[in-house]
Amino acid sequence: MATIDASFATTRPARGADWLGRAATFCYLAIAAGQLLFTAFILLFYYPSSLSGDFAAWNAKPLIKGFVPGDTAGNLFFAVHVLMAAVITLGGLVQLIPAIRGRWPAVHRWNGRLYLISALALALGGLWLTWGRGTWLNLTGAVGITLDALLILTFAALAWRAARARRFAEHRRWAIRLFVVASAVWFMRVGYMVWGLATGGAGIGKAMDGPFDLFLAFANSLLPLAVAELYLRAGAHGTPLARRSTAALLGLSGLIILAGSAGAWMMMWSPYI
Ligand code: HEM
Repeated sequence: MATIDASFATTRPARGADWLGRAATFCYLAIAAGQLLFTAFILLFYYPSSLSGDFAAWNAKPLIKGFVPGDTAGNLFFAVHVLMAAVITLGGLVQLIPAIRGRWPAVHRWNGRLYLISALALALGGLWLTWGRGTWLNLTGAVGITLDALLILTFAALAWRAARARRFAEHRRWAIRLFVVASAVWFMRVGYMVWGLATGGAGIGKAMDGPFDLFLAFANSLLPLAVAELYLRAGAHGTPLARRSTAALLGLSGLIILAGSAGAWMMMWSPYI
């Protein structure tokens, strides 16, 4: 497989492995396209306002609690959060490119350290924004994002520990899981967009308390994690049928992600809206 990883391939690929590899590459490229659009939004919208101190400009977006006059700590936490958001989103995409791992291992190591630091900062800072600053509309949503933060912290520790011990196959598995849960807030935005386009917004409540909101509060991390788990298992010891089925699932996921990302750009992230 060209993009996400080739470590399950043997010298003679197992039946179905080439399909799995191609589908994983396609899915990665779809994620990369969507996350590059998200990064462009953060760089164009949040960087100029946060770096110039014009925090009030954040509130042009429909945030729960963006800039609050007088709340210096809360505003600074928010600024650091959105600045780090671009670092982790770009860093994760770079980290998964095998050519970089193979040819420039030092880039992989240093980008990996930066990625882990930004994962810690976003998870801990996000927990503070949620519970310390009180940024939530309903409790289920707050618990869902808290679960994501705990998964980020756990998987980051496990990926780091395996890398330190040079257990690279294990490191790869935890790093892929970490990438998935660290992308959960992006999956959530893409998920809302696809669902909104497909159903006109069925099950979405005004206070993010409809059945779809409650589902997505947990599905934003657990659903992509389940797909990643199927991919890892099919790659390691799946039957040809399991590999082909997982390849089909990855292909479908990639198409959904492309549609959701295009929608998110046109309706949420583009500077022209
Ligand atoms: C790890 C990857 C993460 C990224 C890339 C990220 C990115 C962002 C971005 C871009 C915003 C600005 C809102 C927007 O314009 O969409 C934001 C806001 C926020 N994030 Fe995160 N975030 C991450 C993780 C987390 C986690 C784990 C939590 C909670 C535990 C969290 C809690 C929040 C909160 C409470 C806000 C304020 C939302 C509002 O006021 O409407 N974030 N995040």
